[in-house]
Amino acid sequence: MLTKIKETAEFLKREEFVSEVAIILGTGLGGLVNEIEIEKTIGYDKIPNFPVSTVEGHEGRLIKGKINDKTVLAMQGRFHYYEGYDMKEVTFPVRVFKFIGVKTLMVSNASGGLNPGFKVGDIMVLNDHINHFPEHPLRGKNFNELGTRFPDMSQVYDPQLIDAAFRIAQENGTDLKKGVYVGTSGPTFETPSEYKYFRMMGADAVGMSTVPEIIVARHMNLRCFAISIITDSGVPGEIVEVSHEEVQQVAAAAEPKMTAIIKGLVDQL
Ligand code: HPA
Repeated sequence: MLTKIKETAEFLKREEFVSEVAIILGTGLGGLVNEIEIEKTIGYDKIPNFPVSTVEGHEGRLIKGKINDKTVLAMQGRFHYYEGYDMKEVTFPVRVFKFIGVKTLMVSNASGGLNPGFKVGDIMVLNDHINHFPEHPLRGKNFNELGTRFPDMSQVYDPQLIDAAFRIAQENGTDLKKGVYVGTSGPTFETPSEYKYFRMMGADAVGMSTVPEIIVARHMNLRCFAISIITDSGVPGEIVEVSHEEVQQVAAAAEPKMTAIIKGLVDQL
């Protein structure tokens, strides 16, 4: 695995895909791309050892460009566990990021709201997570060069970035929520009883991504920030039928607010 990571990192460095900031763009959050002054892009199928994205609405390319004056790398399309990738594949790009100089990882996603105080369309900054995936991304041989065998997870999401996000949201008049995200495999949305189970666990929102990438990023000591759009409700009495299309529509509507926060954060890094 280590050989493959280094091989891919060497390739990307030769192609000048290097930056201290990487952003993973989740469901329907393509709007940030319009804020990036794109310098180069490369399809995942052209990157050695990269898995190829299959899900509808995820394009599958790596972008290098500038947000204001800061160079960023953005993943347009990510690898979900429910697509059939194993955890080593899901988290492979994040491993590579470390070797091309990335220090900060920002991730966005869509989720179902569990906190009764949240409405559809709200944006939530993650202040913690619960790993409910059936496979752990760090299971197996540990590479000490990447990180320690038993990584600390006491403060996964960077408090300074969380505070900065709230300042930016306040300046923009955006109502921002904070909470715990539980990551689970999908691809089914939850039954009412599963939503209740996750709420009782202490989660504020549930989704099918982010947690594996963030665990691997923290293993390598990257600064992490993650933000979620609440696209549907898992609160009793509010649960209605939900589809991928609706999730994408709600995400698209919330996009400008989310984009402004990420842009503001990149600006002050
Ligand atoms: N559950 C899981 N993942 C999701 C949801 C949900 O309700 N909404 C968007 N992604």
